[in-house]
Amino acid sequence: MVIILDFGSQYTYLILKSVQQLNVSCKVVPYDINISEITELEPEAIILSGSPYSVLADEAPLCDKKLFELGIPILGICYGMQLICHLLGGKVAHSLKKEFGYVELIIDEKHKLFEGLETGDVVWMSHSDKIDSVPSGYETYSSTTNTPFVAMQNKANNIYAVQFHPEVSHTEKGLYIFRNFIFGICRLKPNWTPSSFIEKSSKSIKEKVGDAGVLLGLSGGVDSSVTAALLHKVIGDKLIPVLVDTGLMRKNEVVEIQHMFKNIGIHINVVDAKHIFFEKLKGVIDPEEKRKIIGNLFIQIFEKEALKFDNVQFLAQGTLYPDVIESASSKTAKGPSVTIKSHHNVGGLPEVLNLKLIEPLRELFKYEVRVIGKELGLPDEIIFRHPFPGPGLAVRIIGDITEEKVATLQEIDFIFIDELRKSFYYDRIWQAFAVLLPVQTVGVMGDDRTYENVCALRAVNSLDGMTADWTKIPYNILRHISNRIMNEVSGVNRVVYDISSKPPSTIEWE
Ligand code: XMP
Repeated sequence: MVIILDFGSQYTYLILKSVQQLNVSCKVVPYDINISEITELEPEAIILSGSPYSVLADEAPLCDKKLFELGIPILGICYGMQLICHLLGGKVAHSLKKEFGYVELIIDEKHKLFEGLETGDVVWMSHSDKIDSVPSGYETYSSTTNTPFVAMQNKANNIYAVQFHPEVSHTEKGLYIFRNFIFGICRLKPNWTPSSFIEKSSKSIKEKVGDAGVLLGLSGGVDSSVTAALLHKVIGDKLIPVLVDTGLMRKNEVVEIQHMFKNIGIHINVVDAKHIFFEKLKGVIDPEEKRKIIGNLFIQIFEKEALKFDNVQFLAQGTLYPDVIESASSKTAKGPSVTIKSHHNVGGLPEVLNLKLIEPLRELFKYEVRVIGKELGLPDEIIFRHPFPGPGLAVRIIGDITEEKVATLQEIDFIFIDELRKSFYYDRIWQAFAVLLPVQTVGVMGDDRTYENVCALRAVNSLDGMTADWTKIPYNILRHISNRIMNEVSGVNRVVYDISSKPPSTIEWE
């Protein structure tokens, strides 16, 4: 397997994704991991990520120098390259000339890492420091008009580095770098397949859980459903799936989910907690506060439910890799990456949890989870359901939450999704939903003036939820949806369509 030492770059997950795209197992570890922990993992290659820090800063995240004596091939990327220089006797300095964005490569000599690349290829840079000299024993073979040292290597010690970011899609041949390093230099073989993932994680679930029971927070979304199917395959009835009816789900959703799981032989326990959710959320308008309240309520309910069954020691959640990145400022690199949103299954966890967490999909992206779900035999209606956030409609009602507003939004959402299905657009969209705004506008119905709410429709296409673009739904479909909403939902007299991408917006409004 490949390990990535994370120095806090926002792009670390893209390195992971690039390696996984080559079907090679990969794991992200903190930059300050002990050397003994590294050797225990038995990595066959190590990648050093970028970082928002300068290696010259007092608080710069540094790794143990012994890393370079292990004989395991290393690839440093951006900060990773500067770090190698800094620790091994080269010279890094602040530069007056920053280099951000597209640049063209100049390649002086062909080497294995650059196989398939040529002078003039576009790569993406993002650095303010420059390398003045490389450590002794290192050869360099590429530059740009701004940067004399774009790549370096010490073949004898198996250490390689590039100044640009091969992991971002703007570097056109970025994947060549990973392929050349992993297959050409490290001689690894592709081994990540859905069945290998299932086999490996089944083994580790068995080892971790033993004979204990596992309570699973099931929302009916693809992540928790795949988690359920995986755990059920490994521990059978020791799995206790709990569906919390928060009152914030989509119209008819609780009944539909119960049905779907009954069809695949998994019994789920539904807890009616509508009352407590509405009670605790009364008057709350801050999105982060809503998320924290909901996350805490979920945990309290799970802990209470766990006591009803024998020997339940674990809480399973369908947490994915993007949830982890966007929720947590990287604990690995002294918190340089910022919290975007507290995803309820990650950010809402209390300090003390009476159940041990088990999150088998924590290192996967949604598209990989769907492949695993297919391999586990889940039906398409579960696998290709649009994602739905843990806090549910609470983060789609801007402002305070009331039962009436939820009922209104459920109707709007139902019409939107119904029409997308009928027009065969549902499966072409990553996620579509409606948002109820705390804004009233003037309208006219019949001969009367109305002063009612605005709702927004949002549909996006995405690969992993990390970046997204709005979907160009044909006007005639949008017109029909808008007409139906106005005619069938009372209290709404205006429908708007959200045409923002992520970034700079996020997918959900809160
Ligand atoms: P954002 O709004 O952060 O959403 O761009 C990215 C994806 O994550 C979903 N999302 C959540 N999923 N718990 C979840 O399980 C949450 O708290 C949560 N918040 C957002 C969102 O629907 C989108 O698919």
